[in-house]
Amino acid sequence: MNGVRIAGIGRYAPAGVLTNQDLERLVETSDEWIVQRTGMRRRHIAAPDQATSDLAVPAALAALDAAGKQPKDIDVIIVATATPDYLFPATACLVGNRLGVAGTPAFDISIACSGFVYATTTAASLIRGGLYKTALVIGAETLSKIVDYSDRGTCVLFGDGAGAAVLERSDEDCFLGASLGADGADPTLLYLPGGGSRTPFSSLNGEFAAQRLGYVHMQGQSVFKVAVNMMAASTTAALAQAGLSPDDVDFIVPHQANSRIIDATVKMLKLPPEKCIVNIEEYGNTSSASIPLALADAVASGRVKDGNIVVLVAFGGGLSWGANVWRWSGARVGRVPAEFVEPERAAAVSKR
Ligand code: ACO
Repeated sequence: MNGVRIAGIGRYAPAGVLTNQDLERLVETSDEWIVQRTGMRRRHIAAPDQATSDLAVPAALAALDAAGKQPKDIDVIIVATATPDYLFPATACLVGNRLGVAGTPAFDISIACSGFVYATTTAASLIRGGLYKTALVIGAETLSKIVDYSDRGTCVLFGDGAGAAVLERSDEDCFLGASLGADGADPTLLYLPGGGSRTPFSSLNGEFAAQRLGYVHMQGQSVFKVAVNMMAASTTAALAQAGLSPDDVDFIVPHQANSRIIDATVKMLKLPPEKCIVNIEEYGNTSSASIPLALADAVASGRVKDGNIVVLVAFGGGLSWGANVWRWSGARVGRVPAEFVEPERAAAVSKR
């Protein structure tokens, strides 16, 4: 028994909602521009006192519920995030503690929007290699904390959320293929300039805010072109490793960065649009949370069924990219515990 399957998935979106109309009041933009250029209508936004681990925990509990497991059954916790609670310690350590399993190995994967695909590939390999039986993989982000709400080129794009999957050893191997890639030639294409060792917080003597170093900076058009090419290429490579072709794919779950990027990728792969899972209208771009959120929506609505061939494909800062091919083996979406569920409210977002 050296196979691995997804045993359960979970999702959690914070109660705060930011609509295109709200953004019209913040920056010079319009609902029409945003919908036409990105496909987005709403995003969920964390409360001021909510950090990434606060979103990761309910998503993880939902995935555990779906898998019929307790936190103590988990052998390793991996959190993919570009917005950790702290630069260190790893957010995964905080999640383990909140789940009551201090002592369980836990680490973060920092590869921006490709994080969930890198994390599932890592977890599947650890299980297949025999080190662990069960892994909790979470993609969680509070991008609103690093978005400049005076920059219309980025602030309309990003939202917060978390998705999780429990992976477990199984007789049938449902992890059919993977392809990962990265190219760090130009980090400034998509990056957070401040806070790392290149420009530490301590180096700026109060200039940090004035220079907008704590916010996402992006060269949108350059990112767009690479995104389409590399999402298509990594899908093809992962399918080839699985001995499959695009014709065998039942569903593709792409990173929800922009509906035009998704449409162009699907076209390049010659896949019919109905095989593509898109929920960008509701969440915007939630980086490493976007694939598990889209997958969870598709499973919850009954679109993805037992035996389906499902491709998860991402692209993001690094630049980085990657794809997984899974045979769906009946995993469902679990319930978020009631104490985390709040009624929707307008998000508290303002220019900083
Ligand atoms: N509202 C109104 N107008 C805007 C807005 C806005 N929110 N943003 C930009 N514009 C204007 C620009 O100023 C420009 O005006 P100009 O022609 O007078 O100069 C015009 O719209 C066109 O701007 P472009 O940047 O050319 O617009 P484009 O069609 O490329 O769309 C976008 C911009 C949506 C950012 C697109 O380039 C994109 O999606 N790029 C990829 C982004 C991405 O995928 N990022 C994340 C990937 S990885 C990760 O998720 C972390």
